[in-house]
Amino acid sequence: NIGKSTNILWHNCLIGQSDRQKLLGQKGCVVWITGLSGSGKSTLACALSRELHCRGHLTYVLDGDNLRHGLNRDLSFKAEDRAENIRRVGEVAKLFADAGVICIASLISPYRRDRDACRALLPHSNFIEVFIDLPLKICEARDPKGLYKLARTGKIKGFTGIDDPYEPPINVIKMKDGECPSPKAMAKQVLCYLEENGYLQ
Ligand code: PPS
Repeated sequence: NIGKSTNILWHNCLIGQSDRQKLLGQKGCVVWITGLSGSGKSTLACALSRELHCRGHLTYVLDGDNLRHGLNRDLSFKAEDRAENIRRVGEVAKLFADAGVICIASLISPYRRDRDACRALLPHSNFIEVFIDLPLKICEARDPKGLYKLARTGKIKGFTGIDDPYEPPINVIKMKDGECPSPKAMAKQVLCYLEENGYLQ
């Protein structure tokens, strides 16, 4: 059993999620933003966080790129490492939601099964999946970090959308096909969803 946690028991505290939510006037949840590199995930995450913050809500952004500088620095972009990346971020996001925070996670998260595994960590309604459905052509034309160019010339192997898969989600909040809505407009769309579905009091 070395390497696995055994003989462990869950310990509950007197103060729970509902107490924290009451204090904060919001429902802890995870807004999970998925999409290709360069589709604007981080920009949307920041815009949404700003909009919510300005309205007095506590948020925290978990950005894939940023987390790979620390928590996930040991992980590559192979499918099994991406799965572990998503699993860890899902677990951290779950803790934030339990803390009563509106946690905004922005990761490529290219595999449907990995995203579904994160959804399964939380009560169903507390995982809100948002897909920035921007065609590869546009993401590649933007190429904000010059990574698509490196991938096309074979200098990066296994780049999502080029020689690695992206499985688009179905039945999620979807940002309009083929258009480039502004980050503010996209943030408003998610904000309306949160308002209409009782996450904000
Ligand atoms: S994943 O697939 O969810 O595990 O990826 P994520 O943790 O979100 O990290 C994505 C950022 O890593 C950079 N990068 C790559 N992306 C995709 N494929 C490969 N091979 C790769 N190598 C480096 C890239 O800057 C991604 O950032 P974004 O913000 O998505 O452009």
